[in-house]
Parts: sequence; structure tokens; C-alpha cells
Amino acid sequence: MRGRLAGKVALITGASRGLGALEAVMFAKEGAQAVIVSDVSQSALQETVKAVEELGGATTVIPLELNVTLEEDWTQAAISIEKRFGKLDILVNNAGITKRERFVDCSLADWNRVIAVNQTGVFLGMKYSAPLLRKSGRGSIINMSSIAGVTGYFAAPYTASKWAVRGMTKAAAQEFGGWGIRVNSVNPGFIWTPLTLPAKQMVEAFTLERAGEPEEVAQAVIFLASDESSYMTGGEITLDGGMTAGGEIRLIAKELGIYRDE
Ligand SMILES: NC(=O)c1ccc[n+]([C@@H]2O[C@H](COP(=O)([O-])OP(=O)(O)OC[C@H]3O[C@@H](n4cnc5c(N)ncnc54)[C@H](O)[C@@H]3O)[C@@H](O)[C@H]2O)c1
Repeated sequence: MRGRLAGKVALITGASRGLGALEAVMFAKEGAQAVIVSDVSQSALQETVKAVEELGGATTVIPLELNVTLEEDWTQAAISIEKRFGKLDILVNNAGITKRERFVDCSLADWNRVIAVNQTGVFLGMKYSAPLLRKSGRGSIINMSSIAGVTGYFAAPYTASKWAVRGMTKAAAQEFGGWGIRVNSVNPGFIWTPLTLPAKQMVEAFTLERAGEPEEVAQAVIFLASDESSYMTGGEITLDGGMTAGGEIRLIAKELGIYRDE
């Protein structure tokens, strides 16, 4: 059976753990020709490489040291992908960090660090990958935003960066449409990964009253990466168990006794 990503070459940033690592494995299960897994250190990628290789499929997995904040890393990545594959079909701008700091407490250094990874990293990724994605003829960029990019959130630099990701996604969709490149964002809510706050009580604000599983995010990323989403660009998929659809209001109404779950 041909997978949904058969014949495609994908680059995933921040793929040594969490959502990026799982996406690499699930891309391989969907028959991707090659998955280039990247992160700040190549040694940290060994687990991801092993997990893909253990599937025993035909996907080539390539570990790549790529700090998304460094322009020279992106230029080198583009050169090596061009040399080996002559094109790129999928870019997942997944790498991200968080600083749960308020505006008044956040140092300029912390602000700049979060913006550098989450926002500038996505800019550089799109800038340097676009010429390779153009060669695909049906390229797809998936940018990881968050519900912190949909609502106000308690982490100032993280919120700023994730709203920027959604905005850049829509701007890039305009710019790259003529090159056959689609650009969409994914806005996860609260998914259990090493990044996530150990705050189970927050989960009650989600209409579905549970956190999301990494597989549920990866499925959305696969849809956007595949040709199944061929008419979708500048769009977004929000996976938050209904939180931004009014989950918090429902929770307050429940506490006040004016709404009952029957
Ligand atoms: N887990 C969630 O609940 C959740 C919710 C909303 C959005 N997201 C977003 O999804 C993405 C993945 O999140 P996760 O939960 O898997 O996080 P994670 O912390 O488990 O993984 C993030 C990865 O990014 C890498 N990284 C950090 N700085 C980097 C840099 N400068 N260059 C390259 N790689 C770098 C880390 O090494 C790590 O492997 C992030 O963009 C995050 O903001 C996650």
C-alpha cells in the first residue's frame, strides 16, 4: 500500500523529542521517501533515527544539526538537501521553546531567545527552504503555532512568537502560492510532551476534558503535508479539545451551577 506521503522528502526541525520526533516516525509510516530530522545537536537525534529505522520501511532517515536561529545552518541545510535530493516537498517548522514569564518579569535576553527560536527560526526556515520547495511543484510548509497564538496566554514572549507564526503563515501563503507551495499552521492546545506544564487541572478547561496526544497533532501535520490538503493554504488547524471554542466559559458556567453536563 502506498502511504499518504509516498515519494516525499521532508525536513522537520526540533525532531529529537516530543512532537517533532513522533512526526518523523509517522511520516515514515506514511511512506515518505526521506525524513531529514534536525535539531541543535546531531547526537540528540539518535533516538529518533533509531525509531524510524526500527520500522524497517523504505524511508531514508537523515540526522542534521540545524539550530533554527542560525542563518548559516539554514544555508548549509539547503545546500545539502539540494545536492542529495534536488528538491524538498515538506518543511515542518516545529522547533520551539517556552518561557513562562510575564511582560514585567521577562528579561530582554529571555524575550530575544524565545523570539529567535519560535519566530525568527520560522522566518529563516521558510526563506531558505522556499526555493527547494518550489522545485517540488507541490511543496507544503507546516508551521507550529499554539493556542497561545490564538488567545491571550500567560507567557509573554511565547504568546508574541506564536501569534507571529500564524501571521507569517498567512503572509507566506500569499507569497508562495504562485510557486505551488502551500503554507498552513497547526495550533495545538495542551499536548503531553516534555514541553508541557505538569498542570492536569488546566485540562478541565478543555471541552473534551483531556489533554491531547502527540499522535493527534501528528495526524493533522500529515494531512497538511500530504496532497489531501491540496486546496488549503494560509489556513490553520486548531487542536485544543474545544478550549478556544469556549471551553473556559463552559468551565466557569459549570462552577457557577448555570451549566450542567448531563
Ligand atoms: N506540547 C504542547 O502542548 C504544545 C502546544 C502548542 C504548541 N506546541 C509547539 O509544538 C512544537 C513542539 O513542541 P514539543 O511539545 O514537542 O516541545 P519539546 O520541547 O518536546 O521539543 C522541542 C524541540 O525543539 C528543539 N529546539 C529548541 N531550540 C531549538 C533550536 N534553536 N534549533 C533547533 N531545534 C531547537 C528542542 O531540542 C526539542 O527537540 C513547539 O513549537 C511548541 O511550541 C506544543
